[in-house]
Amino acid sequence: MILLTGGAGYIALHTAAVLIETGHDVVLFDNFCNSKPLAVERLAAIVGRPVPCVQGDVRSRTDLDGLFDQYSIDAVIHFAGLKAVGESAAEPLRYYDNNVGGSLVLLEAMQQAEVRRIVFSSSACVYGEPDASPIPESAALRPANVYGRTKLMVEEILRDLQLAAPGWSVALLRYFNPVGAHPSGLIGEDPNGVPNNLMPFVTQVAVGRRPQLQVFGGDYPTPDGSGVRDYIHVMDLADGHRAALDWALRDPREVLTANLGTGQGYSVLDLVRSFEQASGRAIPYRIVARRAGDVAAYWGDPLLARQRLGWTARRTLEDMCRDSWNWQSRNPQGFA
Ligand code: NAD
Ligand code: WQD
Repeated sequence: MILLTGGAGYIALHTAAVLIETGHDVVLFDNFCNSKPLAVERLAAIVGRPVPCVQGDVRSRTDLDGLFDQYSIDAVIHFAGLKAVGESAAEPLRYYDNNVGGSLVLLEAMQQAEVRRIVFSSSACVYGEPDASPIPESAALRPANVYGRTKLMVEEILRDLQLAAPGWSVALLRYFNPVGAHPSGLIGEDPNGVPNNLMPFVTQVAVGRRPQLQVFGGDYPTPDGSGVRDYIHVMDLADGHRAALDWALRDPREVLTANLGTGQGYSVLDLVRSFEQASGRAIPYRIVARRAGDVAAYWGDPLLARQRLGWTARRTLEDMCRDSWNWQSRNPQGFA
């Protein structure tokens, strides 16, 4: 049985769908601070059977001990965390408590339950402003915000733990920019309030919830002046977790750090154009000032994941836009 903390969230739901379809049993664990129980019902509709989901908090040892008593867990994929960069600057203690404190409590509970295989949701954010793209895993780690520092701290805790207790197998997955949705249109990204990220903002404009997109910066040193990122389809990301989990289940007893990206950069305006084509909807936009803290362009080097995990992203920007639109157009108000 595989435990997915933060199991009702965007990336975990898609990962659960892929894991169940490839023969794994999963249990989800979530405090629903950024997700809804309805999402778990939608997952059940996709896989054609109920998916066990326990409500609880990774910061609660009581909740976790109960979970490890109830289920025989072989490995954990640790998605639970807060992820809004701007909010992390305003509420650092909440972010350190939830992301770092929560991970510590989880690791202690795992150690007690003798579960020593973990796949951790890290982020390309740990690189901060890179010297060059594509970014290899060996690049300097200098996160530029609190959120990124919480991810780097947990990576370091896991490296220290594996050194002290070599029985552990640890995969640190650094995601680039996840977008897209399950092809069924039953699950997808459903942020609370005004979306911070580009794709959910675009889909909400397309569905009429917001009048226009603001493009943050038109004067970057990029081909069209807008920011460039490595967007990755969430189903490819889910498959990357499947590959990392299969690796951990072979008990390699080491730490593997891998980028999960496509290795290809697209600009904000590339994404807008591709989305317009995929959806048949016009996306009105206005170019405004750069967003504080944004980097002009970066994308990941995906070679290591290919060599070590046998995994490569396969889906195109067109696939990402089509599936994001399929989800949002079928669910204009998300899971509400
Ligand atoms: P999400 O908010 O949809 O999912 C996170 C889930 O964790 C939510 O369901 C939330 O309710 C739950 N959660 C948060 N704190 C918890 C706690 N203390 N106890 C139990 N559950 C808790 O976010 P997501 O996009 O699916 O991200 C999943 C993970 O991947 C996060 O750790 C995030 O930092 C990381 N990540 C996300 C991105 C991205 O752009 N989406 C990129 C890189 C890394
Ligand atoms: C993408 C591009 C914006 C919104 C963040 C985190 C990162 C990871 C993914 C968690 C940029 C532009 C955006 C809008 C815009 N998350 N943009 N108008 O900032 O690359 O990465 O999410 O780990 O750690 O930092 O993603 O989607 O916010 O922005 O023009 O309304 O879209 O300036 O160029 P970002 P994003």
